Amino acid sequence: MKFGYFDDLNREYVITQPDTPLPWINYLGCQAYFGIISNTAGGYSFYRDARLRRLTRYRYNNVPLDFGGRYVYLRDNESKEFWSPSWQPTRHELKDYTCRHGMGYTAIGSSYSAIEAHTRYFVPLDENLEIWQLTVTNRRTTKATLSGFASIEFCLWDAQDDATNFQRNLNTGQVEVEDGVIYHKTEYRERRNHFAYFACSEPGAGFDTQREAFLGRNRGWDKPATVEAGQLTNSIAHGWSPMGAHQVKLELEPGETKQIVFLLGYHENPVDQKFDPPNSQTINKILVKPVIAKYLDPSNADAAFERLRQYWDSLLSIFQVDTPDIHTNRMVNIWNAYQCMATFNLSRSASFYESGIGRGLGFRDSNQDLLGFVHMAPSRARERILDLAATQLPTGGAYHQYQPLTKRGNNDIGGGFNDDPLWLIVGVSAYLKETGDWSILDQPVPYDNEPGSEAPLYDHLQRSFSYTLDRLGPHRLPLIGRADWNDCLNLNCFSSTPGQSFQTTTNKDGKVAESVFIAALFVHAGRELAAIANHRGLDGETTSYLAEVAKMEEVVRQHGWDGEWFLRAYDDFGAKIGSKECEEGKIFIESQGFCTLAGIGLDDGTAKKALDATRKHLATRHGIVLQQPAYSRYYLNLGEISSYPPGYKENAGIFCHVNPWAMIGETRLGRGDEAHDYYSRINPSAREEIGDLHRCEPYVYAQMIAGKDAPTFGEAKNSWLTGTAAWNYYAIVQWILGVRTSLDGLEIAPVIPKSCPGFTATRIFRGVVYSISIERKGEGNHIALTVDGAPIEGNIVAPPADGRKEVSIKGILS
Ligand code: BGC
Ligand code: NOJ
Repeated sequence: MKFGYFDDLNREYVITQPDTPLPWINYLGCQAYFGIISNTAGGYSFYRDARLRRLTRYRYNNVPLDFGGRYVYLRDNESKEFWSPSWQPTRHELKDYTCRHGMGYTAIGSSYSAIEAHTRYFVPLDENLEIWQLTVTNRRTTKATLSGFASIEFCLWDAQDDATNFQRNLNTGQVEVEDGVIYHKTEYRERRNHFAYFACSEPGAGFDTQREAFLGRNRGWDKPATVEAGQLTNSIAHGWSPMGAHQVKLELEPGETKQIVFLLGYHENPVDQKFDPPNSQTINKILVKPVIAKYLDPSNADAAFERLRQYWDSLLSIFQVDTPDIHTNRMVNIWNAYQCMATFNLSRSASFYESGIGRGLGFRDSNQDLLGFVHMAPSRARERILDLAATQLPTGGAYHQYQPLTKRGNNDIGGGFNDDPLWLIVGVSAYLKETGDWSILDQPVPYDNEPGSEAPLYDHLQRSFSYTLDRLGPHRLPLIGRADWNDCLNLNCFSSTPGQSFQTTTNKDGKVAESVFIAALFVHAGRELAAIANHRGLDGETTSYLAEVAKMEEVVRQHGWDGEWFLRAYDDFGAKIGSKECEEGKIFIESQGFCTLAGIGLDDGTAKKALDATRKHLATRHGIVLQQPAYSRYYLNLGEISSYPPGYKENAGIFCHVNPWAMIGETRLGRGDEAHDYYSRINPSAREEIGDLHRCEPYVYAQMIAGKDAPTFGEAKNSWLTGTAAWNYYAIVQWILGVRTSLDGLEIAPVIPKSCPGFTATRIFRGVVYSISIERKGEGNHIALTVDGAPIEGNIVAPPADGRKEVSIKGILS
């Protein structure tokens, strides 16, 4: 069953009923000011850090789901009836409800008793505010006398503290109201120099800033006493729960439309200019007032919206493809790229599943996110790489996370995830391939943000590489540390205490448990590093990196092969994990996927065996499960993986992040049908028809789909912020369609299904527009290229020597 449809032309997903199986969300903002917004206007906003600068409240774990939002109410002053045009919070039955989630905006419209209302929410580029444009039209034959209300509930900045420290926070709330603008200034009197504001383009017919005054005692957002009575009370919050509500009068003749603009924004004043007059306690509004005035003007709001559209047009135009498969096209051209931007911006911090208070930016996560993002904003990718590298430790190790506001490593989560450092090589390599900006390698970057410790970025990559070699185990495979990519394979944890964090508890010395996955990642990253060294003319280093890679491959062959597939790991007792000898967890996808992606076993048939075994044991109609058989009980020596009921998350769930590794592995074997088949099984657009089973948004990937051992097989969870976005984008674009960046130019190496007649694409790469057309003439993967009409050797198109800005590539596959 579907709950809406794709409007590809407008790059929107149109939801046609408000009660989707779960809140279907979108993101507002793409630079510093962000919000999440659901299809019924639920969600919240924050500035940079979803925990420390939360602007508005949201209630995770609430019933009904998805409460707290950007709520508009309309009231018919004659019938005294009131409703919300976004369905929540009043949940009236609406006519013609639609929610259009687009690129950086959401527009929710509906009609109720012949009054049409439509609200478009977005964040203008380069501003720290969001605009709500409410348009109300009277479709009656008689005049309508209405009141409109807009409301938000302020969060007292630190979302964690806001949800826990009531003895203090119920006293600190403060606001100001001036010229009809509500300013939220809790803690501004002391150490903060920032405030939030909520403004309205119409002369106000009333406001409220104290939640209880607005809602009335013992009432919820579904039935505010003031809205019911038709009049706000002009309350000023002193402590308790500061909020913002505006009331406007709407007298509409038949057919008449009126637009009202609401602004919710964040502003920082210079520390020495906080107050006006200087010795008062009143916010200095001199700097913010022009911004408010500007965007309350509907024509400026429209212009800002137009700029946002153009921004997305230009970002998405960097890669566009036309294949016979609509699901590929719309995910690659629109939604998957868009999701990659969200994961780059927010890492894993704020979604319907990430509460905004839990995590900083992950070292491995952010590096992987670059794979799907780097082409859209290389300069931001550069900055991110340098920030990440600056948190690296002198040993080459990494803090597992860092905080975006301070850019410092986060000691609470610690380090010792032994795969982490290698991802820096993968991220930097992706950046170099995209940009050809070799200067980044010479950029001095400190270790652990320690002034004086600066060394060129290249040195960081070398230490990442050595970090693995310095930590080899009994079989000469890499020691796993706290965990590798699979955060839940905690082989040194041995936790038997309820509630202990699997991520930070270590009860073993860590000298035995080894990871075949890290070995594969080492082989992959080592090859990338060798290619970088080679490009820089460092022959000795190139040779020694390749020698280490070859050694590691040999170790994998000897100690990482189980006969029909690659082993996953050795535990603290030196026993095999992911082996036919195991009772449960006999085969894991990570090692099959990453070994084959890294090219291990392509020459001796083991790669093929491993992927055949994957198909036989792990593939399901909803995607490839993480391992089989699922763990049916808790294993002290395995940790969190066995804490999940079978079929969920890392315990045999369909982890959509790792499916692309097997897709890429299949392309390395030349099996385009298999690769694209795996791609389609988890492609959200291709799952739209089974929306009642899948339940998450059909326009973005979810981290996990419940595996075959789960009672809810096929049900997705944890949409939006997942490495799945970047990896699927990377797999389909660079390996299946084969439009691949390389250090030397644009490589064209499609491995598409045999029945696919070809495709066309445009790629803007290093300032040149490449028009690509691929035609299939035979069933294989051999490609013959002509560039601007002239045949070339090989499949790498070097940047035009004569400075041409447009190049046409034709490829014949046979
Ligand atoms: C989840 C993992 C996640 C980890 C780190 C675990 O509970 O299952 O997917 O990576 O937490 O926060
Ligand atoms: C989610 C985490 O963000 C990611 O870093 C990890 O690799 C996967 N879960 C698998 O555990």
